[in-house]
Amino acid sequence: MLRIAVAKGRLLDSFFELLGKAGYDCDSAAQASRKLVIDVEAADLRFILAKPADVPTYVEYGAADLGVVGKDILVESDKHVAELLDLKYGLCRLVVAVTKDSGITKVQELDFNSRVTSKYPRIAEEFFNSLGIQVEIIALNGSIELGPMVGLSEAIVDITETGRTLAENGLVVIETIMESTARLVANRISLKTQREAIAALAGALEGVV
Ligand code: PRP
Repeated sequence: MLRIAVAKGRLLDSFFELLGKAGYDCDSAAQASRKLVIDVEAADLRFILAKPADVPTYVEYGAADLGVVGKDILVESDKHVAELLDLKYGLCRLVVAVTKDSGITKVQELDFNSRVTSKYPRIAEEFFNSLGIQVEIIALNGSIELGPMVGLSEAIVDITETGRTLAENGLVVIETIMESTARLVANRISLKTQREAIAALAGALEGVV
């Protein structure tokens, strides 16, 4: 049985839908409510429902053979996993945003040592370093848009999908760092020990992506 770590939340339904199209009927798993480990015997798959940011960890340590995770989280986690496939759903952008009132239109206009709040401290640090812009990165766990609104930071680095959260909180994008979609990743040892099952699943998914 292949073990797949998946993120609870908005991307899970899209993945089950994709699996169905690929011939792996997992409707029973899609309906299970609060279980954290769900076996679908017919498809020979076990789903491990984790927090998005923890998916690469389960895969790196071999607690899961495969994982489905956003490229943004994958890059931020810096875990040693093999990226197999772009699943091409869950498109969002990782951006730098500031309050509209600040009048700032590009990152170069941020003051020296400006504070930047983010759930992606590693990517944010690398981005500003690559431009030679000195900022102080402050890591937060969610509701990142609050930072500039309450005076904790001058800017944020966060994902945006529809742009609604930014707009409704008076924030504007001044830079796009990267685009992100869901990725299928694998544990490096499972790639050898479960070679056939992983190749079959990845191949079937590739056919319907
Ligand atoms: C993400 C992100 C934004 C929001 C963007 O938050 O951090 O807050 O979604 O989506 P939108 O552009 O469609 O409005 P998430 O829902 O993951 O929760 P969080 O605030 O706890 O990080």
